[in-house]
Amino acid sequence: MKKLYKCLRILLGVLLIEEMATGQEENAALWGETSESSNYGNWLPTHAVDGVLTTWAHTKLETDPWWRVDLLKVYRVNRVTITNRNDYASRINGAVIRVGNFLNVYSNAICGVISTLAASATATFSCSGMEGRYVVVHIPGDQKLLTLAEVGVYGHLAGNRAVGGAVLQSSTSGDWFAEKAIDGNRGFQLLYTGCSSTNNETNPWWRLDLRDVYGVSEVVVTNRNDCCADRINGAEIRIGNSLENNGNNNPICAVIPAIPAGASSNYSCSRMEGRYVNLIIPGDWKVLTFCEVEVYGYLAENLAVNGAAAQSSTSADWFAEKAIDRGLQQLYTGCSSTLSETNPWWRLDLRQIYRVNRVVITNRKDCCAEQINGAVIRIGNSLENNGNSNPICAVIPAIPAGESYSYSCGGMDGRYVNLIIPGDMKLLTLCEVKVYGEGPCLKRSFVKMLFNSSKDLTDSTMRENVLKQLESALADRGFTDVTLRWSQTPKRVIQKVNAAKAGTITGLLRHYITHHPVPGILTSGSGSPGRFPSGGHL
Ligand SMILES: *[C@@H]1O[C@H](CO)[C@@H](O)[C@H](O)[C@H]1NC(C)=O
Ligand SMILES: *[C@@H]1O[C@H](CO)[C@@H](O)[C@H](O)[C@H]1NC(C)=O
Ligand SMILES: *[C@@H]1O[C@H](CO)[C@@H](O)[C@H](O)[C@H]1NC(C)=O
Repeated sequence: MKKLYKCLRILLGVLLIEEMATGQEENAALWGETSESSNYGNWLPTHAVDGVLTTWAHTKLETDPWWRVDLLKVYRVNRVTITNRNDYASRINGAVIRVGNFLNVYSNAICGVISTLAASATATFSCSGMEGRYVVVHIPGDQKLLTLAEVGVYGHLAGNRAVGGAVLQSSTSGDWFAEKAIDGNRGFQLLYTGCSSTNNETNPWWRLDLRDVYGVSEVVVTNRNDCCADRINGAEIRIGNSLENNGNNNPICAVIPAIPAGASSNYSCSRMEGRYVNLIIPGDWKVLTFCEVEVYGYLAENLAVNGAAAQSSTSADWFAEKAIDRGLQQLYTGCSSTLSETNPWWRLDLRQIYRVNRVVITNRKDCCAEQINGAVIRIGNSLENNGNSNPICAVIPAIPAGESYSYSCGGMDGRYVNLIIPGDMKLLTLCEVKVYGEGPCLKRSFVKMLFNSSKDLTDSTMRENVLKQLESALADRGFTDVTLRWSQTPKRVIQKVNAAKAGTITGLLRHYITHHPVPGILTSGSGSPGRFPSGGHL
């Protein structure tokens, strides 16, 4: 009897939680704007969001047909449901679901792929909070047609970054769990929402892990309204990437003097960057309690996603790119790995020079976490020794399995970010590398060149032609995005040759561009990690 009672209670708990979760979610597709690559007769794209299972969106037979819903605002999409038509069910096979902010279908990240789906069946794809304004369904290939009976898109309006984060507090009073401060409910009215609270202690703190680095624009804190409104007084809001002292040593965004009972106060943090948001009340005999913390801001740009990865060797399909595959992790779970060898390395080419503030490394969690120990992070512009001679940002002592550790590089300039483990019989495995910084930085340099040219470089058209030829010669060597300008009109040196031959003088002009210390005249763009040729034949 007692056992049965316990069972019922657990069941009830599950149901209530379910209700809470679905209560917050809405089918955002219902008020979105739909479109498709082509339209077959009267089968309009809106038919996929009309709630009617016997009408469908339907493209013509074509190459790469697609259907899209514009949600009009950016959502964190938790799941997408697809309902198939009641006949010709196999036509859906191979359809890809993408979520993102791009009108170009393929720029959006993949949430799921439909292998097969029975007639009239509904499949649910978990997108785990992928962010995007557009949800696209498309079938890659020739001679395809796409029909969709219904598409549902469930999630939250993106914005409050706290939802979905991981929380922890220094202690917990009763069932005033840390999670209750990010349950999406500011109020203190419902049984299953509520507030967080620590015990009465010294320096009580609460920490939110946003799971990624954000530029935080605002933090909104809602105070309890049942009693004890003064228990928030003196709380510091701290934001940063360090877990030192449980994150309580990160820089302060604001100190809360007081918040009226039940009220929400908004603190501006001017895009302070951080993965952790802490609240802490310094002092003895303090209780830290509040009902909601909301964090608004933007994902700090991870420069790695636009880069190109390479490594010294590749173990099976543990390709170098898998360490920067953020958007595709759901489909191709994965990490990069070299073979076991001497001094294995992995290199990221950011394609431009950046001022790198931080590198975040995620270690594997399946096994062998200690293999990362001793890896050196190097940043710079040289490809000498495959980039492994560039200056050192940090040496990794160890990273626990599955964890992401952040290494501060204090604004090192570089186009290449390398990881290398010095030693024999080493193996370098990386599950994610994220790089944060500013840029691209323009590099300006002056070069003095000696040309051997038969053209008259005192003529401005000729001079422009020479620059074009030089730029294309540089481009051939991989230095694109370089802008050249003359700093001085070339001087010419005439060498007489063949003077006796035909009675005429063929001039061989030698032009010197002299070094000129005025900035901005002969400039090169950011894509020039190496050196310019010091002279050339034209
Ligand atoms: C916070 O305050 C600013 C300025 O008053 C306002 O623009 C912003 O919308 C507020 N944010 C929230 C989340 O309430
Ligand atoms: C914390 O405990 C101290 C010592 O017992 C007490 O004086 C104080 O009122 C308590 N504070 C709160 C907020 O309960
Ligand atoms: C200039 O180029 C010509 C033709 O290629 C060559 O004969 C001559 O030796 C070169 N002169 C110098 C100074 O390099």
